[in-house]
Amino acid sequence: MNRHGAAPAVSVVGLGPGDSDYLIARARRLIDQCAVLVGSPRQLDCFPDFAGEKRPLGALAELAGWLAQQGERAVVVLASGDPLLYGIGDYLSRRLAPGRLQIVPGISAAQYLFSRLALSMNDVYLASSHGRAPDFDFLLMHPKVAMVTDDRIGPYEIARQILIRGLRRTMIIGENLSYPDERIHRLSPAQVAPHYAMNVVVILDER
Ligand SMILES: C[S@@+](CC[C@H](N)C(=O)[O-])C[C@H]1O[C@@H](n2cnc3c(N)ncnc32)[C@H](O)[C@@H]1O
Repeated sequence: MNRHGAAPAVSVVGLGPGDSDYLIARARRLIDQCAVLVGSPRQLDCFPDFAGEKRPLGALAELAGWLAQQGERAVVVLASGDPLLYGIGDYLSRRLAPGRLQIVPGISAAQYLFSRLALSMNDVYLASSHGRAPDFDFLLMHPKVAMVTDDRIGPYEIARQILIRGLRRTMIIGENLSYPDERIHRLSPAQVAPHYAMNVVVILDER
C-alpha cells in the first residue's frame, strides 16, 4: 500500500484519551474533510462545528453493512484511544473489503497513563475487562499489566482478585485521563475503593 495514494473512503480514526490536544493532525484533517462522522453521542459532541452529516453509532453489524453501501463518500468512524487496542478498528477491518478502510492511530488511554507515570511500556501486558471475563490467573503472572475496564470488572474487582490469591501488587488507577477532572491513584489492593470514574488500571509486581 502506498502511503501517498488515494485515501480509502472509510477511515477509523483514533481520538486519543479525550482532550483534543492529544488528537493527531491527520485525524483532525480527515474529520474536517469527511462527509459523514460516525460516533457515540459524546464523541460527536466533541465536534460542534462539523458541517457534514453526523450519524450516531448503532449496532456494529448494522454499521458494517451501512459502510459497505456508502460508495466513495468519505466516512470517518470515531474510536476512543487507539482503534486497534480493544476498539472498533479490529471489528471493521475484518468486515470491510481490503483497500476500503484506513485506520488512523490514536493515543490509547493506557499509553497516556504510562506517559503520565514516566513508566516504560516495554514489558507491559495489555488487557481488557471491557465486556469480557479476564483470566486473572494468567494476567497476574505478568509483572506489569495495563487493563482497560468497564463498570462490571473495574479496580475494586481487580483488587479483590489480587487479594484472594494472597498476592502483593501495586495498583495505579487513572480516572478520566486527559480531562480536567483526571485523577491518578497509587494504592495497595486493600486500599481500592468500590467506585471510580472511567479508568485504566496498571498492576505492578514491584518485588
Ligand atoms: C472499549 S475500551 C477502548 C480503549 C481504547 N481503544 C484505547 O485505546 O484506550 C474503553 C475503555 O478504555 C478506557 N478509557 C478510555 N478513555 C479513557 C480515559 N480518558 N480515561 C480513563 N480510561 C479511559 C476505559 O477503561 C474505558 O472503559
